[in-house]
Amino acid sequence: MNGMRPPVLETERLRLRPVTLDDAPAIQRYFGTWAVIQHLSTQVPWPYPPDGALRFLEDTLLPDVAAGKCLFWGITLKGERPRPVGGEPEQFSCEGEGASERPPEGERARPVGGEPEQFICEGEGASERPPENQVVGAVHYRDGDGPKGNRGFWLAEHLWGRGLMTEAVVAVQDYLFFERGIERMIVVNSIDNPASRRVKQKTGARLLGTVQVQHHHGGDATSERWEVTREAWAEFRGR
Ligand SMILES: CC(C)(COP(=O)(O)OP(=O)(O)OC[C@H]1O[C@@H](n2cnc3c(N)ncnc32)[C@H](O)[C@@H]1OP(=O)(O)O)[C@@H](O)C(=O)NCCC(=O)NCCS
Repeated sequence: MNGMRPPVLETERLRLRPVTLDDAPAIQRYFGTWAVIQHLSTQVPWPYPPDGALRFLEDTLLPDVAAGKCLFWGITLKGERPRPVGGEPEQFSCEGEGASERPPEGERARPVGGEPEQFICEGEGASERPPENQVVGAVHYRDGDGPKGNRGFWLAEHLWGRGLMTEAVVAVQDYLFFERGIERMIVVNSIDNPASRRVKQKTGARLLGTVQVQHHHGGDATSERWEVTREAWAEFRGR
């Protein structure tokens, strides 16, 4: 892999961009949680150190990206215009279907109840959306043949189940297969991680078999190993 920084990838709801040291606080907040790390291999430290994200970026990730050893995208949510409620453009709801995703102008989001991922619009109700351009997840790709495969991903827990990672993976695989011209990637998940399995099933992966990788949750180390080929991806995407 040459040393090119990953390009910005845009999807309907997401902007995937390179990360910098400035992203360390957001990565610390959203990645350094048991909900995310329990599904990862024991190479990731747990308990996650208070400077875990900064150390990872500074000592490992950014040097590896600069050396062309891996591609890493921070996932950010595209800004959405607040939707007016009841035809009154000045009124916004922070709850339910008609929720505006950002607090109305002049109101600051503040953390609620010790849950760093959740925000509330003062006096209005809950809004989960962190500020635009904040990294709320990541996808990375590495060449090579390690037991953990070539690609990994994570997303802040409060955003799970909305199809966001599937959307991110489609963009990354389009880029890797069609623009960088890779032939094949291997992706791996614990058998105890149905969400990760499902993302693979929704993004053209074919199950090859199992491999042993110890994960933090301490359950069965058996992990599923999948393959995505350029040919299969092209067919999946109708190209
Ligand atoms: C894996 C992860 C990235 C998925 O992100 P996401 O944005 O929620 O993924 P999507 O919404 O695109 O797809 C998730 C799918 O899993 C399904 N799913 C979630 N939990 C499930 C469960 N317990 N059993 C069965 N299916 C489940 C969802 O219903 C959805 O499938 P659907 O669209 O067919 O309904 C996220 O859960 C995460 O960050 N987990 C922690 C870190 C991690 O596990 N990383 C991968 C390591 S291999």
